[in-house]
Amino acid sequence: MTQYEQAAIVANFLAERLEVMPAVWVVLGSGLGAFADTLNSAQRFAYTDLPHFPPATVAGHGGAVIVGQCQSVTVGVMQGRFHYYEGYELDQVTLPIRVAKLLGGVRPCRPRGNRLIVTNAAGGLNPNFTAGDLMLITDHINLLGANPLRGIHDERFGARFPDLTAAYDPDYRRIALESADQLGLTLQQGIYVAVAGPTYETPAETRMLQAIAADAVGMSTVPEVIVARQMGMRVLGISCITNLAAGIANHPLSHQDVLATGQRASSQLIALLQHILPRLCEADPMV
Ligand code: HPA
Repeated sequence: MTQYEQAAIVANFLAERLEVMPAVWVVLGSGLGAFADTLNSAQRFAYTDLPHFPPATVAGHGGAVIVGQCQSVTVGVMQGRFHYYEGYELDQVTLPIRVAKLLGGVRPCRPRGNRLIVTNAAGGLNPNFTAGDLMLITDHINLLGANPLRGIHDERFGARFPDLTAAYDPDYRRIALESADQLGLTLQQGIYVAVAGPTYETPAETRMLQAIAADAVGMSTVPEVIVARQMGMRVLGISCITNLAAGIANHPLSHQDVLATGQRASSQLIALLQHILPRLCEADPMV
């Protein structure tokens, strides 16, 4: 079965059950899941209950699609994602984004949910960053060694050779910066580089990533943004700098520290998302 057919089945499954359709989708990265708990009137679908969603590789961390209200906005949240380092194919990693897009076409009504906010935990490469900072993603570098669009082209998704000039929507970035300003939050800006992982970098790799002008390094997001842009979704990306990349700080990295810093920064991320979401929808009410 093609990825399109799988995504269409999941989209129909959700459409039959959802009371309201999302206007915006949010992918929550490692340690950043708390935003989903702030939604009102939420409907929850465990990934394990969705057809064609890949099986979880870690027991108890299966993730869920949650659709609920953030003030006046209906938001669809992907709480947890599938990573390339877990052994999934990129068709599996990007299935939730394909579903989000197709869901908007199931019922011939607005909203179409054509907006995507991706969040992640990332290591800081820029010496001006500190652990706990939020970073607006201005662009990305794909060092995964793979591209989700490799393979047979399905033109129902969009172009064979999608343009990534403005992958991270300039209007959305402006709105995010204005929101941070109004909230009195520091929002760094920079380039996110995706590596395959699951090891953290060696100090030599950290220096190489700094030399290619990356500001933050992580193991996700880029495949999702590539397919979202192929399908014409408008994208906003926010990294939580959970640690300084290996070799910058003089102590070893641990996933526990990454998760703990993510959880501490979560409240800032929640405040920012709550401010941004209605403004994204006002910026382009028809999307
Ligand atoms: N490197 C790669 N991925 C990460 C890091 C890091 O330092 N922190 C969180 N995700």
